[in-house]
Formats: sequence, structure tokens, C-alpha cells
Amino acid sequence: MTPEGEGSQPLLVRDLAQVATPAGKSAPVRGADLGAIDVLEDAFVLCGDGRIEAVGSMRDLPPLGDDVEELDGRGLSAVPGLVDCHTHACFAGDRVEEFALRAAGATYEELHAAGGGILSTVRATRAASEAELVAILERHAAWMLRAGTTTFEAKSGYGLDRETELAQLRAIETVGGAPTWLGAHAVPPEFAERGPDAYVDFLVADVLPEAARIAEAADVFLERGAFDAEQARRYLTACAAAGLEVRLHGDQFTESGAIPLAIELGARSVDHLEKTGAAGTEALSASDVTGVLLPASALFLDRPMPPAQELVEAGAAIALATDFNPGSAYCESLPLVCSLACTQLRLSPAHALAACTVNAAHVLARADRKGRLAAGFDADVVLVADDDWRHLAYHLAGPVVHSVIRAGRIAWSSPA
Ligand code: NIG
Ligand code: FE
Repeated sequence: MTPEGEGSQPLLVRDLAQVATPAGKSAPVRGADLGAIDVLEDAFVLCGDGRIEAVGSMRDLPPLGDDVEELDGRGLSAVPGLVDCHTHACFAGDRVEEFALRAAGATYEELHAAGGGILSTVRATRAASEAELVAILERHAAWMLRAGTTTFEAKSGYGLDRETELAQLRAIETVGGAPTWLGAHAVPPEFAERGPDAYVDFLVADVLPEAARIAEAADVFLERGAFDAEQARRYLTACAAAGLEVRLHGDQFTESGAIPLAIELGARSVDHLEKTGAAGTEALSASDVTGVLLPASALFLDRPMPPAQELVEAGAAIALATDFNPGSAYCESLPLVCSLACTQLRLSPAHALAACTVNAAHVLARADRKGRLAAGFDADVVLVADDDWRHLAYHLAGPVVHSVIRAGRIAWSSPA
């Protein structure tokens, strides 16, 4: 298979007001490095064969051949294509009814316990064909692209049976996402009597062998009413032995041991952390596990925000993601998440940019080619509609994305 963009016409984005990219070369960035963004003014980005060939000042632009397509960057700034490292974008149906019930006072946990919530999306997703799942995910991926996301992860977890879990993973692969197997998302109705232990047995014996051929990582919902730490350990240990990276949904509603387990298993990430206290913050910060913060989800459910400042100050590696899903975060916009990071998590625009580029790419094991604007990286670029790149976070829910370049091609442009 030819890599995306290979053999395509070179593209020069010229006269950019700013090119802004996380400084340095290593990943993840943490501590003082998290806020270090290199900004080059009056600059260009040159793309060829799907890669970035050069980034530099306009005064250093070398003479180029006639075959180069040029894009006028005046009044715009460039940042790396955004990386959404935590979504549940492959789902059928919606939960607008539940949204209205929540507005009238019902809680997310109550709806889940009454057989709604995740399980209502499971019913809709089981009823969809694989071709329908692909079509739905293509639509969601187009929404994400318009918001500047050039790389996305998506989880299964709305099948909870062999056939639908695998169909979700294949659909994610087909649409170009990074597939994560979230078999342990909820206990499905057919296992209600036998319970979560029997369901984990089934996942490991009947689904894992094929899921491990498609997915890159495994994830679990470690939470009261879902899976406990022992069940999560058993599921994730089997997944790691099958070659999958390990991730956890943890500390969303209760601190139930997700951070110690993530550290014990060498997890790639532990995600949510709305209920993480001082001991968890300290332990996570001293580890190699990335904490993925999901402020759109906390906002959507009117939950406390994760302790972002404490994590950053203690030197944790943090990433930001949307958690895009029909129940707890019907939101595909990373620029909006960056706004929430600044207004609700009290991070700086620089922290937010690094957290949804280089550090999110690290969570997806792609930091060697995604998340920075530098020669040799994939030519994924967001052109921000202002001469100061920080408008990406500043303009709350505004039309901040002017154009999106993926693999060196213009993949989306805002209507003039
Ligand atoms: O990350 N918390 C568990 N899973 C998702 C929500 C899924 C849903 O409500 O459909 C989350 O918030
Ligand atoms: Fe999630």
C-alpha cells in the first residue's frame, strides 16, 4: 500500500503569520517543557510525498520548481494537525432523549443503572450493519476533520458481543482511526445474571484472539457499576499478553484503583481523572503513564474537572481529548477542548496545544511522526484563522479552523 500522500504534488503554505509547534524532539513533554511552543513568524511550511519537507522563515525560502502548489497563508497561523487520542466515535443512534432527561435532573449513573446510558447505545449499535457503522463513522470523522483533527483513536465498547465488537474495530480501521478494544465497557444484559467475572472470561476466551489482530490497544471502564480493579487487571493482563497497549477509564466517578493498576501494568494512559485526589496525582506524576484529561465530558455531565494544574505542576505527562460519544460528551471539537483546558482546567494555550498534539500522539504511539511541525513528520497541518495561533483556544466554539492539510493535501477548507 502506498503511504497517504506519496507521489502527490508538493504543497507550499507561504507567508504564514506564525508557525507554532511543540518545542524539542522527545515525547511526551512534561513539566516546564509542556508549555514550550516554538513560534516562527513570517514563515512557510513545505510538504511533499505526504511529509513535511521543511519549515522556515520566508526569507530563507529556497527557489522551488513549477510543480509546487502554493497556498496563501497571510493572516493565518499553522499548528500541527490535532490528535484526538480518546473517542467513542463509532456508535449508532443518539441519546438526545437521555440528554433531555438529564437536563430535567436525572444523573448519568442513574440512567446507566436503569439499563439506559451505554446500554441504549449498545442496542442501537448491535442493530446496525458493519456498512452502516462505517458510514456513521465516516460522518463523525468528517466532523472531527473540520475541527482540525487529522488523527483519531476510536474505541469499540458498544457491541459487547463478539460480532459487534469486531465489526466496530473493523469499521474504525476502515475509516482510518486507531482502533482500541473496549470490550470491558459495561456488562451486557445477557451476562446480567452471571456477572462481570463471567463476562471477562468470555471476552478473553472468545473475543480477544481476533480483537488483538485489529486493535492497537485495549481499554476498560474501571468504575463502580462497571468493572472493579481485579476484573480490570485480569482483562488487561490478557490483552497485554496478546500484544495490545493498555489503557484505562479511571477515577471518573469514584477512585477505584485505576492509577495504581495503570502504573503496575505499564499502561499507555489512564483517562478521565475527575475524582483523582492528592495521592493519585502524586503517583501518576512520578510515573510514565500519561493522564488523558477530558474536560468536555466533565462539562457535559456537570462533573468536577480533573486536577490538571496539580498534575502539570507535579510533572505529569498529560494529554487532552474529546471523549466524543453520544452519552457523556457529544462533542468532536479539540479547539473547544483547548478552550475548556484554559478556562476550566487553568492551563495555558501552550499547555493545551502540546496536550492535544505531541502528547496525544504519544498516547497513540505515533509521536515519531505526528504532533509536531518539523521536517520528516507527516504533513498534517491546521491553519488557524488568525495571525496569533492562540485563537485556537481563545475563540470559544468559534470558526477557528481555516483549513486542514492531511498527508500534504488540503483535506478541508472553510467556506470563504
Ligand atoms: O468515557 N465512562 C465510560 N465511557 C464513556 C461514555 C460512554 C457513553 O456514555 O456512551 C466515557 O465517558
Ligand atoms: Fe471515554
